[in-house]
Amino acid sequence: MAVLPICKYGDPILRKKCEPVKEITPELRKLALDMLETMYDAPGVGLAAPQIGKNIRLVVIDVSHPEDEEKDPHIMFNPEWEPESDAEMVDYDEGCLSVPDIFCNVVRPDRVTVRYNDIDGNPVEIKNCDELFARCIQHECDHLEGDLFVDKISTADRTLNQSKLRKMAKETKENLAKKSKR
Ligand code: NI
Repeated sequence: MAVLPICKYGDPILRKKCEPVKEITPELRKLALDMLETMYDAPGVGLAAPQIGKNIRLVVIDVSHPEDEEKDPHIMFNPEWEPESDAEMVDYDEGCLSVPDIFCNVVRPDRVTVRYNDIDGNPVEIKNCDELFARCIQHECDHLEGDLFVDKISTADRTLNQSKLRKMAKETKENLAKKSKR
């Protein structure tokens, strides 16, 4: 497995809608495992394919506590979620490995059902996902639409973080320009 570089805020790949995965090839299985390793290394609790530069509908999630002995990795191809009928909208401070050092409140449903294909292509449905797992599923699925959590923060939080975000986007664009010249 390998730790992959994470694309940062300002990289246009993060704004593209991702393509469905039609066939889970050995290359995609390896990519999914590399994404897990990249996420654990960061460390983070979720990672979506566009964050490592791939425009496909694949996310990895593990919300087990770092001190837990048992890891709880989920590899989700073509994930979709819907809120439970009695879900409530709740506040939570989110962050993102592609938007380092910014943590802001986002309001989302607290319980969801998620459906996806696992690494072997088997269809999986998990009902009543809650707490950090529910939050993470929604955040990672947003990435597949080209959406970032900073799109969903309050006007006050956006104003507060505007210069940080501008600086980050500028640095990312400079780094991408340097790379393309090599
Ligand atoms: Ni993220």
